[in-house]
Amino acid sequence: MQPTVHISPSILSADFARLGEEVRAIDEAGADWIHIDVMDGHYVPNITIGPGVVKALRPHTRKPFDVHLMISPIDLYLEAFADAGADIITVHPEAGPHLHRTIQHIKSLGKKAGVALNPATPAKMLDYVLEDVDLVLVMSVNPGFGGQSFITSQLRKIEALRRSIDKLGKPIELEVDGGIDRETSRLVIDAGATALVAGTATFRGGPSAYADNIRALRGINELAGAQ
Ligand code: DX5
Ligand code: ZN
Repeated sequence: MQPTVHISPSILSADFARLGEEVRAIDEAGADWIHIDVMDGHYVPNITIGPGVVKALRPHTRKPFDVHLMISPIDLYLEAFADAGADIITVHPEAGPHLHRTIQHIKSLGKKAGVALNPATPAKMLDYVLEDVDLVLVMSVNPGFGGQSFITSQLRKIEALRRSIDKLGKPIELEVDGGIDRETSRLVIDAGATALVAGTATFRGGPSAYADNIRALRGINELAGAQ
């Protein structure tokens, strides 16, 4: 196991009526980052939260906000999410006309730039921008909803990106999002992932289970860990 793996719980699976408390609880349970799924009902068939909610959550934790934008158009809203307290801003290439420009825009706002690849989007989409990004997000489900099953073909994409990142020799995070649980987390870490997003698997069981849920994703056996 790679001890450096970052766990980024997706608050999409949290109790939306108590989001501030949920963010504090998942922080205290050992989350490394907080994954915030922003959906517009246009780029993806679901609507979630906007920059106002990100700003309202910011005082509840010091952990980095890993903001996953599933919105189109994209460029109009980058500044609003940066101002709201995002640390990493991840975009989909299909959500805007000029990916290179969008990446540079995020960096000009002083934020880390990520690019998300849908299950059908090839790794080679990044050939000419990989050196510019801080994070690559491999979607192991189609974006839009939590609770979907892991798409196994994405393991090959993770392995290919691992090789490309290693060849480049830059500290680019390789994050995986969708259907991550204690079994699939093993597979993606072995394939070369350095960060895992998980909604269902981190928030199931309520706050008393969060710490064990996160430890399980890291590959730490709860019973052994409790001794
Ligand atoms: C899906 C989102 C994911 C989602 C993951 O569009 O990007 O972050 O919350 O949910 P689980 O972990 O339940 O598959
Ligand atoms: Zn996400």
